[in-house]
Amino acid sequence: MNLKKDAGYKAAEYVKDGDILGLGTGSTTHYFIEAVGKRIEKEGINVMGIPTSFQSLLLAKQWNIPITSLEEHDIDLAVDGADEVDTNFNLIKGGGAAHTKEKIVDYAAENFYVIVDESKYVDEIGGFPVPVEVIPEASRTVIQTLEDMGANPIIRMAERKDGPVITDNGNFIIDAKFNKIESPEHLEIDLNSIPGVVENGIFSNMVDKVIIGTKDGIKEL
Ligand code: 5RP
Repeated sequence: MNLKKDAGYKAAEYVKDGDILGLGTGSTTHYFIEAVGKRIEKEGINVMGIPTSFQSLLLAKQWNIPITSLEEHDIDLAVDGADEVDTNFNLIKGGGAAHTKEKIVDYAAENFYVIVDESKYVDEIGGFPVPVEVIPEASRTVIQTLEDMGANPIIRMAERKDGPVITDNGNFIIDAKFNKIESPEHLEIDLNSIPGVVENGIFSNMVDKVIIGTKDGIKEL
């Protein structure tokens, strides 16, 4: 049973011939990109993808999905994973440090679908720390401000590389754990108003559909 795969493959059924797709990042979106690649192979559908990371760029190339950019096209459908989704469709994203480009692409899309396994669906977001991408020079002052806001902020350290994670945009990630997120909408705005913050991983009120892989089958909300 692979619930991420089930969700990714279900989302690919919504892709229409001629669509411009936003290609999210992560292990769930991996399956969406794979499924779109297989539809190109078998059905000959004509689509183009706008990647949200080097990961999704490389995967799209591997599956022969033609690449385009926001400079050239509007997006019909963006499909992306999430670290948490709540019952009001607020998200925490950025577990893969790609949330800045993901937010640019997902928010620009005509339709934005989120694909998750059932472990990600929660009553309220906030169990997962909020990833905050920062210009490296601002990390100390951003950490201080986050502490003043009541969070417990930690610079994300890399694995199999010494030192911090460096994003696709050359920045650091600070993971900020809040005790409770009262208003995702306000926190999303407040975090982005700290000098040196590039983007945070709260996505409030932007999702059109949530596709959840569960042990009892796919659920669509
Ligand atoms: C990357 C993301 C991912 O979409 C999120 O972390 C979910 O990843 P996965 O599908 O691997 O669980 O936001 O920055």
